[in-house]
Amino acid sequence: MITLGIETSCDETSVALLSNGDIVANEIFTQALHSLYGGVVPELASRAHLNKVDILAESVLRDHNICPRSLDCIAVTDSPGLAGALLVGISFALGLHCQHGNKITGINHLEGHICSLFCANPDLSCPFLALIVSGGHTAIYRVDDFARYTCLGSTVDDAAGEAFDKVGKLLGFPYPAGRAVEQEAVAAAPGPAIPFPVARCAGQRLDFSFSGLKTAVKYYCMEKGADWVAQNRAEICFSFQKALVDSLARNLLLAAEQTGIRTVGVAGGVACNGELRRTLNTIFGDKISFPPPSLCTDNAAMIARAGYERLRRGMLRFPHMSPSLGIEQQRA
Ligand code: KG4
Ligand code: ZN
Repeated sequence: MITLGIETSCDETSVALLSNGDIVANEIFTQALHSLYGGVVPELASRAHLNKVDILAESVLRDHNICPRSLDCIAVTDSPGLAGALLVGISFALGLHCQHGNKITGINHLEGHICSLFCANPDLSCPFLALIVSGGHTAIYRVDDFARYTCLGSTVDDAAGEAFDKVGKLLGFPYPAGRAVEQEAVAAAPGPAIPFPVARCAGQRLDFSFSGLKTAVKYYCMEKGADWVAQNRAEICFSFQKALVDSLARNLLLAAEQTGIRTVGVAGGVACNGELRRTLNTIFGDKISFPPPSLCTDNAAMIARAGYERLRRGMLRFPHMSPSLGIEQQRA
């Protein structure tokens, strides 16, 4: 069974091919132009997807000798994301579907991130906990099966990647700043971290909050002054990263204790972060899995995998554009 995946929800145009669930191609084009503006400009993102998606799809199909008519299913991200950007991918997928009569399904982007865990670890068995940490989302899901997700907690304000990007911008790094902040943190002098506070949600709640951490870094920098900040950028990055990673680790551990589930997968762009990987590996050992970076950041292979899972279960659904989350889940 051949599945074509299309992802255009934010600033990555990506097209992937799967054969029976195995990745044959996963082409990702990252729109670098947004770094000029310090963040994603929705209208520019839509135009850039428009310029790229057909070229990328044609080259992926040509390189693998696949004729569009022979695709068993087309899977396209239809929510959540930037409306115009999603529309480009959905319209392109619908165009192929109308022309060649292939089956088609809409995919929730977060379900896609969860499915990147199936791509990366064939031995992953349900139930498991999925920590999704990206530029737009931060949440812990209990995954009982494909399409059976329960949200145990999510951010009440900024996403983890958004916090990396905003703190990075404050310190002069171009967007997206997560990787640069991590690299800068490596150069921090040994010694105790600056004790940046991270808000904790009351009691046993598993929600996250990162906007206070971002503001704490901002006020700390204002108080210390530009010269001091320039000389101590590595220490600030290290301390911010530590505070954020500790908060993610704390809630994930709490989720494992509350549910009794020790098997964990981490997905989304922030899952590339080495400090997060080291910290969670120490806690969960061989029970935790991380996809490789090409499956952590936005990519179409995870969307195609979700499509393949829907196809073989008879769960295809026509693409729609919904402002709601759309993921079939319960809130714990
Ligand atoms: O999953 P993704 O590609 O897009 C969304 O669905 O949002 O995640 C992008 C986010 C950005 O905020 C980026 O700064 C962050 O992932 N990121 C990182 C690292 N690599 C990417 N954050 C921390 N450390 C990294 N190494
Ligand atoms: Zn994403």
